[in-house]
Order: sequence, then structure tokens, then C-alpha cells
Amino acid sequence: MAKTDGQFAYLNGDFLPLEKCRISPQDRGFLFGDGVYEVIPVFNGQPFELDAHLDRLAQSLAQSAILNPLTNEQWQAMLAKLISYHPWSHQVLYLQVTRGTQMRRDHLPDEDLSPTLYAYASELKPVNPDWLTDGLSAITLPDDRWQHCDIKAITLLPNIRLKMQARDQGADDAILYDGDDRITEGTASNVFALFGQVLKTPPLSNHLLAGITRTVVMRLARDCDLSVCETPLTRQDLKEADEIWLTSSTKNALPITQLDHQPVGSGQPGPAWHALNARFETLKRTWPETSANPTD
Ligand code: PDD
Repeated sequence: MAKTDGQFAYLNGDFLPLEKCRISPQDRGFLFGDGVYEVIPVFNGQPFELDAHLDRLAQSLAQSAILNPLTNEQWQAMLAKLISYHPWSHQVLYLQVTRGTQMRRDHLPDEDLSPTLYAYASELKPVNPDWLTDGLSAITLPDDRWQHCDIKAITLLPNIRLKMQARDQGADDAILYDGDDRITEGTASNVFALFGQVLKTPPLSNHLLAGITRTVVMRLARDCDLSVCETPLTRQDLKEADEIWLTSSTKNALPITQLDHQPVGSGQPGPAWHALNARFETLKRTWPETSANPTD
């Protein structure tokens, strides 16, 4: 198939134009949200931290008792082909595996289902430049999601509700806290807070996703001479932070300059974020040459 400006997708073994993709409404992903997903950035035509994303996908599938439909080599080959259909040097790969199609609706899955495998690419656009000069606003909200947030499940209604609540209160996003006032994560991101030269982020648990960007940011922060500490953070801690960042695959690290309608630190993106962001931009520009760097 020739290169095209249109978007292509992979569905159960076939590459086809995005608008031609069809799945059954009896797919358990559609009926129950019974599936998992990944979002993988592509810099200079090469997927970023692909092994880490495939490892996390394998974990999400195993925890959901869904068979991984491809080997890592098959995933790599399929995604490389998907990338090659598109002209953009920076892309976002979305991939989703559901438990499969079952004609009789039943919470309990049949034994013999074949997973539905779907992936598509889109252009990775630069983030809103105002976010880089002025930062974003966030409010804190109770984390009312489930106890398995380490699974990257497609069932995102709780996250969507929280993000809409933030929007309705005039904020760009929400930072979530549990019953003990401990920060878990953002609605689609991990949270970092800087105190002097110490960068803190909540430790991994079943209450947050093990973000791939989180690991990269911890590594880059050490290169910026910050000491990095995985430790519980409370809502009160965030109020006293010099800087707060949210990290994700599509946005790297973004500065939060207003929390619960109060300025964070100076109320402007701070010097540590500027230094970190410059390193991240260099990493993107030179990817995959920099891929030999050890990750945590
Ligand atoms: N979300 N926590 C949640 C709940 C997320 O949805 C995401 C990313 C992250 C950050 O993970 P990573 O650094 O691996 O992207 C943390 C993706 C981007 C999404 O749902 O679109």
C-alpha cells in the first residue's frame, strides 16, 4: 500500500484506511469496556521506549486474563509497518486489545474467544504553546476510581468524569487524592512535585499507572542534578511545592502553575521544569540515538 496522508489502522491482521475499520457491536470492548490499551509516542519515525510499553501491555493483559495475541517481535513488526504508512516524523500509536466478540451477552467470558486487536496512528502535534509559557491549572479531586489503576484498562468513564469535573470548575485538569489525602495521579498523567532540589513522585502501587514518561522524567531529572524520591505526597505537600509537573506520553512533562486556584511557587513554569523540558526536547530530537541510555 502506498504512503498516504490519510490514517491507516491495523485490525485483526489487516491494514486498512481508518474509516474502513468495522468491529461487531457484540465486541466485549464495546459492551463491557473489557479490554486494555497503550499509547506510544513515535519520535523521528521510531517508537519511544517501545519495550517498556510492550512490557506494560503484557502486564495489563495478564492481570485481565486476556491472552497476548502477538509476540513482542510481531508487535514491533506490526507497529513499524503502521508507522511507515504515515508521513509524520512524530506520531502517536494507539493500540487496544479487547477480550473479543461474544454473541451472547454474559459478564463471564466464553472460553474460546479470540482477542480483538486494533491499532492506529495519528500525528503527534506540539502541545498548546501557552502551556509552556504560562503553565496549566489543576484542581484536586477525590480519586473515586477502582483499585486496579495499574491496569491500563479501556474502561475510562471514571477518568472522563473527573476530567469533566475539572473543566466545569474552570481548570485544565485534576490531580487525584485517596481517602488518606495521598496523591495518586492525574486523570491521564503522573504527578511530580519539586521541593528545593528534591523531586518527589508517589510510589508505584495499584492506585496509579506505572507511566513510561514517569520513568524517563526521573532519569532526566537526575541528569539535571535533582534528587528524585518516590514517596507519598499529600494534598498539603502539593500546596507547599515549588513546582508541580504532570507527565504523559503525548505531553511529556507539563508545568502546573495553579492548584486549587492558588499559584504554585512563583505562579510561572519554574527553572527546574525549564531545564527538564530542554533535556526532554533534546532526547526527542536525537531519538533513537539516545536509546542506549539506561532507564530506571
Ligand atoms: N495516558 N496515568 C494515567 C491514568 C494515564 O492515562 C496515563 C497516560 C499516565 C501516563 O502514562 P505514560 O507516561 O505511560 O503515558 C498515567 C495516555 C497518554 C492516554 O490515556 O491517552
